[in-house]
Amino acid sequence: MAENTAGAKIKLESPWRNDFPALQTTVHGGKTLAFLDSAASAQKPVCVIEAMDTVLRGGYSNIHRGLYEISQNLSQAYEDVRKKIAGFINAPSQKNIVFVSNATEGVNLVGQSWGRVHLSSGDEVLITGIEHHANIVPWYLLADQIGIKVKVAPLQEDGTLDLQAFEQLINNKTKLVAFTHVSNVLGIINPVKELVAKVRALNPEAKILIDGSQGIVHQSVDVTDLDPDFYVFTGHKLYGPTGIGVLYGKADALESMAPYQGGGDMVDLVSHIKGITYREPPYRFEAGTPPIVEVIGLGAAIDYVQGIGMGVIAAHEYALSKYALEALRGLDGIHLYGTQDLSRKAGIFSFNVDGAHSSDVAVILDQCGVAVRTGHHCAMPLMEMLGVDSTVRASFGMYTNKDDIDALCSGLRKVREFF
Ligand code: ALA
Repeated sequence: MAENTAGAKIKLESPWRNDFPALQTTVHGGKTLAFLDSAASAQKPVCVIEAMDTVLRGGYSNIHRGLYEISQNLSQAYEDVRKKIAGFINAPSQKNIVFVSNATEGVNLVGQSWGRVHLSSGDEVLITGIEHHANIVPWYLLADQIGIKVKVAPLQEDGTLDLQAFEQLINNKTKLVAFTHVSNVLGIINPVKELVAKVRALNPEAKILIDGSQGIVHQSVDVTDLDPDFYVFTGHKLYGPTGIGVLYGKADALESMAPYQGGGDMVDLVSHIKGITYREPPYRFEAGTPPIVEVIGLGAAIDYVQGIGMGVIAAHEYALSKYALEALRGLDGIHLYGTQDLSRKAGIFSFNVDGAHSSDVAVILDQCGVAVRTGHHCAMPLMEMLGVDSTVRASFGMYTNKDDIDALCSGLRKVREFF
C-alpha cells in the first residue's frame, strides 16, 4: 500500500480515538475495551451518529416521492451522497453508483442482473482461493441456475495469489473475473491494478469485479485508475452504518443489466396493457424505499475519512501493524498465517495459539477486555487451504492504539499460561 510506506510516521496513538464514543465502553466489570474486530464492523464516529440523529429528529420523510419541502430536501441530500461517493472513489459520474444494502448484495446483484443476461452454460467465472463467501456463493448459485463453471485461482503458501496460475486460468470462456481487494482474514492486499491489466490483456471481453469491502477501508480507491467493471463495498466497515453498501459499475455494464428486484421507484411505466419499462441505472437497481438515513450516515462517514485523508489513516494503521507484528512475533506459541510483508498487508492479523482452540483463546481474551473475531471468517475454502478450521483474527481501525495491541499480547500471555 503506497500510502502505508510513504510518509508513515511512527505514531501509535490515534488522534481520532475520542471521535468514537463506543470505545469508552467498559466490559467485565470495568475493563477498558480493546476493540480489535474492525474488519467485522467498525465503530462509528460522532459525526455519523449525529448526521443520522439529525435526520430522524427533523426533516425525515420518504424520498423521491414527496413534493413537500422536507422530502425534497432529503431527496437532494440523498442524491448528494451518491455524488460524494462518486468523488470518493473517482467514478466518472454519480450514475455509476448503485446503493445496495451491503457488499454481499452488490456481488449478488451483479451475479443475477449481469450474469443472467450475459452468461450461459459452460461460461466460466474465475475467482481466487482467498475470497469471502460473499464472492464465492453467488457464483455457485449461478452455476446451479444456468450451468456456468466456477474456477478458482490457487494461492501460494504465504496466502498470496499464484499469479501464474491465475493467468493460466483465463481463456476465451472466462466471462467474469472476481477477486478481493484486501483479504478479510489475512489482510493481504491483492495487486488489483496488475490483476485487472492481466485480465484485460488475456481476455478483453471478460468483466472484472473487485470486492472492496476491506480495501476501501485501508487505502484510497480510484476506480478510474484501477479500471474494474464493478467495485463493491459496504458502509459499516468504513465507519458508516449497517444496511448500506455501494456497487460501482461502468456505464456500459450497468446499462446492459436486467433489474435486480422489482418494485417502486425503479420503473418508468407499469401498465397491465402496455407493459413495464425500467428507469436508467442506477435507479433501475434500487427498488422500494431505500435505506435513507443510512445513506446520510455513510455520507457523513465519507466526509469524515476524506477530511482526515485515507493516506493519513493508512499510515497510522501501518505503524500499528509494524508494532503488532513485532509484538506478536515476540510471544511464544503464536502461529501467524499469511505473508507478514507489511507492504502487501493491511492491519489484519490471523493466528492460532499452540495447543488452544481459537474459540477458547477468544473467551480468555474477552475476559481480558479484548474483542477479536474467531472462526472461519466466512472464508472456509481459505481455512481448508491453511489446514485449520478456524483462526483468531485481530483487526485494526483508525482508532486503534498501541494500548489495544498491548492488551491483546497480555491476554495471549494469559492464554499461554492457561494451556
Ligand atoms: N466480513 C466480515 C468479517 O470478515 C463480517 O468479519
